[in-house]
Amino acid sequence: MANVVRKSGLGAAGYPAVFAGFLFALAGGLYGQGAGSEYPMKRVADMFQPLSRPAEMIHGSAVMVLWVTGGIFVVVTALLVYILLKFRKKETDDGSEPPQIYGSSHIELAWTVIPILITVVLILVTSRTIGEIQNAKMPENALKVRLVGHQWWWEVHYPELGIITANEVHVPVSDRDPAKARPTHFELQSADVIHSFWVPQLAGKTDLVPNRTNETWIDPYEPGVYFGNCAEYCGTQHANMLLRVIVHTPEGFEEWVRQMKAPVAPPATPDEIAGHRLFYDTSCVNCHKVDGTVAEGVFGPDLTKLMTRQTIGAGVAPLDDKNLWQWVKDPQVLKVGCLMPDMQLTDKETDLIVAYLKTLE
Ligand code: CUA
Repeated sequence: MANVVRKSGLGAAGYPAVFAGFLFALAGGLYGQGAGSEYPMKRVADMFQPLSRPAEMIHGSAVMVLWVTGGIFVVVTALLVYILLKFRKKETDDGSEPPQIYGSSHIELAWTVIPILITVVLILVTSRTIGEIQNAKMPENALKVRLVGHQWWWEVHYPELGIITANEVHVPVSDRDPAKARPTHFELQSADVIHSFWVPQLAGKTDLVPNRTNETWIDPYEPGVYFGNCAEYCGTQHANMLLRVIVHTPEGFEEWVRQMKAPVAPPATPDEIAGHRLFYDTSCVNCHKVDGTVAEGVFGPDLTKLMTRQTIGAGVAPLDDKNLWQWVKDPQVLKVGCLMPDMQLTDKETDLIVAYLKTLE
């Protein structure tokens, strides 16, 4: 045994150093920021930079839990290292059995009562945070959004604005000052299995459960693009069930609403017209909806304003000509197992349908 220990490259001081290095690397990764733009990208998982009240409350509790458990970790590790060093086998040991001690009511009481007290404190802090978020009163001006989880994308409704879109939730910026705040209130539902809404910088996880309506809310302090994802395993493409919350200035949000409500120009060029006819002759229309047309499908995302989106396939790829073409030709290439089948279109047919889809803005 002793030989094995001596052969390993790290001494007693080596392991803590490696562990500290790992922690620093982790922290560095989490704090990384996206590039600046009109709406800077807020990277996913950056839960140490909350920019909305529910996320801020969760952050406060989480940091407290981290300090308490971190303290316990340091004390236990320090004691362990001390005992390992102090009581290791020495040259002078005569090999006789050490004194055998059984039971100590003082020590046993201490290691039972102290953890119970610590756990109770953590339960109380967590319950208070959950209660404060769930019971928060929404002001009259709160924007209402209904999110419906599907395998593997998000249906986004604005019941008061008459807008339907997918995978990208546009909301106005709110304010730290409650008098000026304009939060967004979400109703969360599911069309198939359990999913979970999670945008770490804006709010904690809330499940979307079939036959049930859950609620959550956000009040983002800064405009930007915030990344979220489905946080409950829901099948093959769970990892590519990505969500973006795009937080606008108040004027920017009004502009977005105006754009979403503006009628779509009819197809004009020969390719667009041919693509339009092809789209309505194939089974595309069974699953997709385009406002003001016979395409009334609700199984797949609403395509009325498709070209206003940043990504395709619920965040699987940026929405550009190449990816749109690939998606129409065979979505299984970009998103294996997704419920949109390969429609066996020829390259020419794909060109035409893409030409039509590009008019949907
Ligand atoms: Cu939806 Cu995981």
